Amino acid sequence: MQNELEQLKTTFLEALEGAASVDALEGLKNEYLGRKGKLTAMLKSIATLSVEERPAAGRVGNEVKTAMEQAFADASANVLGEKEAGDLFDITLPGTAPQMGHLHLVTQAIEEISSLFAHLGFILARHPEIDWDWYAFESLNIPKIHPARDEWETFFIADQASSEEDSKVAEGPKGKIVLTPHTSNGQVREMEKGDLPIRMININKCYRRQSDITHSPMFHQFEGLLIDQDISISHLKGTLTFFAKRYFGEGREIRLRPYHFRFTEPSFEIDISCAVCEGSAKVNGKKCRTCKEGWLELGGAGMVHPNVLKAGGIDPDTYSGFAFGWGIERTLMMRAGINIDDIRLLYKNDLRFLEQF
Ligand code: DAH
Repeated sequence: MQNELEQLKTTFLEALEGAASVDALEGLKNEYLGRKGKLTAMLKSIATLSVEERPAAGRVGNEVKTAMEQAFADASANVLGEKEAGDLFDITLPGTAPQMGHLHLVTQAIEEISSLFAHLGFILARHPEIDWDWYAFESLNIPKIHPARDEWETFFIADQASSEEDSKVAEGPKGKIVLTPHTSNGQVREMEKGDLPIRMININKCYRRQSDITHSPMFHQFEGLLIDQDISISHLKGTLTFFAKRYFGEGREIRLRPYHFRFTEPSFEIDISCAVCEGSAKVNGKKCRTCKEGWLELGGAGMVHPNVLKAGGIDPDTYSGFAFGWGIERTLMMRAGINIDDIRLLYKNDLRFLEQF
């Protein structure tokens, strides 16, 4: 019996050494020390021994029991102690930096452009992206059948009730419903608010049926509108010069080149001096490959046409103003140092590209 007890202790101690988790310890406790455990069974069987054998077996039984319990307590303390140590937070370890995203570069440009114009008191507005023909064209002095409309390769919204073959364009109180092909729809809408003077910057998505390396079917424009008394072309030029120097760099100049738009009179294309040749058209004696002529085209502008003022309920004999509008993507692509050869890259959501900005 004594031998068997000693043997049990040895097996138990060996098993304890291998027990690395609280669960494993619990298991051993049940197997050996529990109510139905091996040691308990053996101690009970001492009662069945002869009277001579019992005292010695009882003594060894007690020793073995104490030793096993002590060993179990030590092993538990070890395992628990290690677990607690593992849970401790080491404040000296360097932290794991969370992955930081950033705004899309078009959004960055929108924020920058609107804040530049805010310096001149232009208030950011957001006029609808889906609008009636009236605001997108007719109120802008472009009558229904005017050929100038072709320039704005317009998407029309289909009438839900019409069938696919005979799809009809949805119409509302102010004409057909279009995806706005430019932000100029905001001009008359802003005038209709009835607050004069106006200094608005309308930034929005625009849509045209075009897709190639310089066109994306969805793009952004910003549209400036200023209406007040005694406004002249020099105000327009001053405003755009301020913008060009702040956005593109102090060394850049702008020029107004006569052009034609239905909603402005006179109208201009705005050009900016090329950053590569600084407006000279020459680099090391050769023709500049970026601009070829010293200037790059930014976008359109002009003095608001009297018919447009009238459409917005403003008396053209008392008030005058200027407007300008062009693409955000084009503007940001033209900023020195950003060379994107396909505008559609901006919308492919390829992180390898986006993370560079
Ligand atoms: N809306 C014109 C376009 O998309 C650009 C434009 C030209 C806007 C002249 C204006 C302007 O405000 O005065 O092509």
